[in-house]
Amino acid sequence: MARRPLIAGNWKLHNGLEASVTLARAVVAGVDAGTRAEVVLAPVFTALSSVAAVVRGTGVGLAGQDVHWDDKGAFTGEVSAPLLADVGASHVIVGHSERRQFFGDDDARVRRKVEAALRGGLVPIACVGETLGEREAGKTLDVVLGQLDAIAKDLVGIERVVIAYEPVWAIGTGRVAKAEDAEDVHRAIRDRVRALAGDAIADGLRILYGGSVKGDNAAALLGQADIDGALVGGASLDAAQFLAIIRAA
Ligand code: PGA
Repeated sequence: MARRPLIAGNWKLHNGLEASVTLARAVVAGVDAGTRAEVVLAPVFTALSSVAAVVRGTGVGLAGQDVHWDDKGAFTGEVSAPLLADVGASHVIVGHSERRQFFGDDDARVRRKVEAALRGGLVPIACVGETLGEREAGKTLDVVLGQLDAIAKDLVGIERVVIAYEPVWAIGTGRVAKAEDAEDVHRAIRDRVRALAGDAIADGLRILYGGSVKGDNAAALLGQADIDGALVGGASLDAAQFLAIIRAA
C-alpha cells in the first residue's frame, strides 16, 4: 500500500515570532506543488498563531509540540487539543523523549494525551524509542513495543495515529541509526500494530524515523520499506536542510 510520506519539523524551544515566520515562509516557498510528502511544522506555542497565518491554504500543516490530556480546567500553563485546533493545528507531537525525560510523561500520560489529540480532531505524532543503555542491554524492542502497546492497544481512532520511532541516543547527537537497524524496529512496530489492530490499519500506519535526520542521510532512511517519513529536530531549523529532507521523501 502506498503511504504518503510525512516530514515533520520539530522546532523545540527555538525561534521567536520573527524567526518562526521567516522559517515558515521559506519552507512554504520551497515546497513545490509536485512534492509527494505531507509537511508539518511544530513551532513553539507562542508562534503557532503567526505560523498558522503563513501556512494557511498552502498544504503545509501545523503541529503543537505537546498537549494536555484534558480539554479544559484548572491546569495552569497547559494547552489543550481544542485550543491547538482553534489556532489552526492539524497535528500534535505526543510523548517526545524530551517530555518523557524532563517532564514526567510516562506511558499512561502519553496514552491520555493521544486520546485527547484524537478527541480534538488532531493527528497525534506519538513518539517511542529506547535509550542508549536500553539498546546496549538488548532491550530495544521490549522498550519500543511496550511504549507502543500503551499508545495503541484498544485505541479508538488508531487509524489516524502516526508513530515516530526516535532512538533517544540519536536525538540531537549526530548519531543517526543505521537505515537497516531503524527499518528492523519500524517493521516490528508495524507487525505489532498488525497484531493489535489488523492488516488494514497496519498497512496504512505511517511510522516516522527521528534522530539526527539530515539532508544527506534522509534518502537512505526514507528508502526503507517501513520508514514513512521523518520527525526532524535540528535540521528543521534550517530551511535548506529541511527542504532537502522533503525532497528526499
Ligand atoms: P534531531 O531531533 O533531529 O535534532 O535529532 C529529532 C527530534 O527530537 O524529534
